[in-house]
Amino acid sequence: MLISSERIKDGIRKLGAKLTDLYAGKRIVVIPLLKGGFMFAADLVRFMDVDLQIEFLGASSYGEQTETSGEVRLTLDTALPLSGRHVLLVEDIIDTGLTLAYIQKLIKSRNPASLRTVVLLDKITGRKIDSEINECIFNIPDRFVFGYGLDSPGGFNRNLSDIVALKE
Ligand code: IMP
Ligand code: MG
Repeated sequence: MLISSERIKDGIRKLGAKLTDLYAGKRIVVIPLLKGGFMFAADLVRFMDVDLQIEFLGASSYGEQTETSGEVRLTLDTALPLSGRHVLLVEDIIDTGLTLAYIQKLIKSRNPASLRTVVLLDKITGRKIDSEINECIFNIPDRFVFGYGLDSPGGFNRNLSDIVALKE
């Protein structure tokens, strides 16, 4: 086990409080990036006292592997226009940065009033391109991790409450 559900909850509670302050008086659109970001986003919004709507974006780059294919595909697009809206993008994990760069470029092309990106986990040594993350809760080593919504080999285990690392 890498990060227990208690530690995850503590980290998310603090981030929720911070975002509540940052967005005081604003209406926002929270966009969980599917699939991996669904559980993090579901917990995060419950710690945010902000007027918010939810939209979804889906991205995939891993295929069936535990190494990124480097090719990002959009698997689901938003239903409402993002133009003029304050957008909070919620992602599970950043590694090379390719997924976030692709999604951030897409969102920015729709002229939001602002864009902020929060990630639960950062594999900081994996970065291949610069990326603008506003908040990250945990830095982790370059290991394949799963549980708590994250993808795993075969696609099962997203319903684990803790974050675990694959045996090397
Ligand atoms: P990047 O594009 O290399 O930054 O990879 C980020 C994307 O790959 C995220 O959207 C995750 O869904 C997925 N990902 C990266 N590392 C892991 C991992 O260790 N476990 C599960 N998914 C991962
Ligand atoms: Mg993902």
